[in-house]
Amino acid sequence: MKFNIAVIPGDGIGPEVVEQAKKALDAVAEAYDHIFLYKEAQLGASAMSIDGNPLPKKTIEICKNADAILFGAVGNAKYDNDPSAKVRPEQGLLKLRQELDLFCKIKPVKAYDNLIYNSPLKREVIKGTDFIIFRELTGGIYFGEKKISDDEKSAYDASVYTVDEISRVTHLAFKAAKNRKKKVTLVDKANVLETSRLWRRTVIEIAKEYSDVEVEFMFVDNAAMKLILDPKQFDVILTENLFGDIISDEASVISGSIGLLASSSIGKNNALFEPIHGSYPLAKGKNIANPLASILSAAMLLEHLGLEEEADAIERAVEKSIALGITTKDIKRKTQKSTTTSKVGDFIADYITNQDDSN
Ligand code: IPM
Repeated sequence: MKFNIAVIPGDGIGPEVVEQAKKALDAVAEAYDHIFLYKEAQLGASAMSIDGNPLPKKTIEICKNADAILFGAVGNAKYDNDPSAKVRPEQGLLKLRQELDLFCKIKPVKAYDNLIYNSPLKREVIKGTDFIIFRELTGGIYFGEKKISDDEKSAYDASVYTVDEISRVTHLAFKAAKNRKKKVTLVDKANVLETSRLWRRTVIEIAKEYSDVEVEFMFVDNAAMKLILDPKQFDVILTENLFGDIISDEASVISGSIGLLASSSIGKNNALFEPIHGSYPLAKGKNIANPLASILSAAMLLEHLGLEEEADAIERAVEKSIALGITTKDIKRKTQKSTTTSKVGDFIADYITNQDDSN
């Protein structure tokens, strides 16, 4: 089959890791007789360096017309350290989410048996962890009214949610739970925030439609602690935009490296796939960044296109590379030598091309 894929390498290590994900997709295309047509688009600081705009119109157009979007990373230290910058690279991604109405970010979190040694958490605490975060992505404090006073002595960011915004992501979370361990944990701050109380009321109503799914409520401060103390208790975590951003980085500690976690951001008509790590400017161009999260994002992309077998082939190749220790230095064992970003990508692509079903 033939698919159009928009590719946005973005900033920092984005281009390097996306290149490895494309190698994996090309290997899949060859092994399973598909055609992936890539269209490259700009976003973030790299787009700003061309004409100052972090999200060129052309990028929106390419993304809208694609079957799926593969994204690298966004961000540049130059802007992080300048609070007065009016235009920021991240605005490109936020605006793209809005333009395409990508209202839900899904992040699976797993403890890989072969990588448990790399997590600072105890083996017995994390072994067997397998949950998935459903983060609302186009509402809340990220997109509410923002203002700084004329004298720059006060500022606010409003957090606003509507029942409709809460409902659509909640349905996705419950549907996913039905096919998993049948438990949804709503993470909120309902003891303080009005928006969280609206989330609770809405989720309680919707839960009635999914009688086989257990629902529990947890304050975000408590959830932050439980994620580290007992992550195995979670199945599907449902939460608002800001809390979801924070707890998913925290959860990455469980998997042993943030360089391993992939995500999908989905809307009604479009879907974007990206690693959860950032642009890691210190590693840019050094061929040391871990490409596995980007490669696993490509696997999620294939699954989204209905190519489950092909997605499995990528996942198997990733597991093999970890098992054989063909990894970048962030996840290498003390006794192993690390390898480069591009060599990990080559191994994965070769493995996909050469493996047969008996592997
Ligand atoms: C993420 C990132 C983004 C966010 C940034 C880059 C705007 O941290 O996708 O999780 O905060 O949503």
